[in-house]
Amino acid sequence: MDRISAVCSLIRPCGCLADIGCDHGLVARYALDNGVKEVIAADISEGSLKKAKKLLDGYPNVTYRLSDGFDGIEKKADVAVISGMGGRTIADILSRLTYKPQLILGAQHNQKELREFLIQNGYAIEEDFCVCDRGKFYDFMRANEGQSPPLSAAQLYYGVFYKRKNPDLKAYMLDQKAKLESYKPTQSNLYKLELVKEVLIWQE
Ligand SMILES: C[S@@+](CC[C@H](N)C(=O)[O-])C[C@H]1O[C@@H](n2cnc3c(N)ncnc32)[C@H](O)[C@@H]1O
Repeated sequence: MDRISAVCSLIRPCGCLADIGCDHGLVARYALDNGVKEVIAADISEGSLKKAKKLLDGYPNVTYRLSDGFDGIEKKADVAVISGMGGRTIADILSRLTYKPQLILGAQHNQKELREFLIQNGYAIEEDFCVCDRGKFYDFMRANEGQSPPLSAAQLYYGVFYKRKNPDLKAYMLDQKAKLESYKPTQSNLYKLELVKEVLIWQE
């Protein structure tokens, strides 16, 4: 599955969806074509917003916002999509949000920090899977307001549902294993290697 299809697969029909960091507008277009009534397409970059405007030309229920995260958005969305950034950037954007929409997130690194942020800030992760797109690994999550059970280290690093078979997760783990085995055997690298091996037990 490619990255955009992965994030879109988590979208369900709803009233208002905010696509934060909309860039090309592909996610916003999928939402409007699949039962979302209204989209707020937001990006920090004027150039990115221009691309979204071009793609969504003719769609009636779109509002455009030049905005750092949710800063320039007054309306409360039912769902917020933030994808194509690192986990720390996503957590930083969410830390400035004053309400709790459903979240659809796509993080390309620092996923552990993002999961920690979510569970420490009143979110429970209901979907969480790894996708390999053109040799790069990404994690996609859907989270709702709620109390999360405690997560193990393997869940924080490699996904809440790492015990579910997923060929992309297996490929990611084999890639990580080869890298970690080639690195200096520091305490941190050996610890991560143990976690990777724990995940691989379930993926073999
Ligand atoms: C790699 S693109 C991802 C586009 C799309 N969301 C996707 O998943 O394919 C990242 C986009 O996020 C925007 N962005 C980065 N930081 C942002 C922030 N703090 N607030 C809003 N947009 C941001 C960038 O300008 C860029 O257009």
